Amino acid sequence: MTSDPLDSFIADCRACAAGHGEAADCVAAIAPKMLDLLRGDRAFLKPAHFRSDPDQYARNLIYASDDGDISLYALVWLPGQWTPVHDHGSWGVVGVVEGVLEERNVIRIDDHHDRNSGIGLARGGMILLGEGTVTTFVPNPDHIHLTGVPADRPRAVSLHLYGRMMSSFHIYDVEAGTRRLVDVAHNES
Ligand SMILES: [Fe+2]
Repeated sequence: MTSDPLDSFIADCRACAAGHGEAADCVAAIAPKMLDLLRGDRAFLKPAHFRSDPDQYARNLIYASDDGDISLYALVWLPGQWTPVHDHGSWGVVGVVEGVLEERNVIRIDDHHDRNSGIGLARGGMILLGEGTVTTFVPNPDHIHLTGVPADRPRAVSLHLYGRMMSSFHIYDVEAGTRRLVDVAHNES
């Protein structure tokens, strides 16, 4: 009997999220499943998941659990579109469907990670995530980063699985040394 690869992936992710207390265990269990999803039949990706927005990267919701335990989005990055510097306050697993996604890491160098001001940040390294790549993060401490596609590279599409509904996240003002929680919009399936 065959099952829909997306349904299987979601079921596996929900089981992982329910069965593991540690974020690091969750991402370690889910990352290989994201790899399998990328390498398998991608017919589960519909035209609605490839919607883009000329003004900002597009967040297309694929799945959100009723209990808010997990959510899965297809993000579409047109050339030159970037997130602000942000963290998710959650674990996450990212898989690249198309193109090259760039992630630039930002390191928090003050000793008060629960504060929203007086934040010290330093630029960290970056990584180029090609098609088929899977990467993960955990909030131990917050994974601060910005993600996008430089203007001279083609569109990228990526899948983002989070350990909560990702309807808000912290964005950072690097110069002011502050962060604030903002709502982030998405397109429904
Ligand atoms: Fe992010």
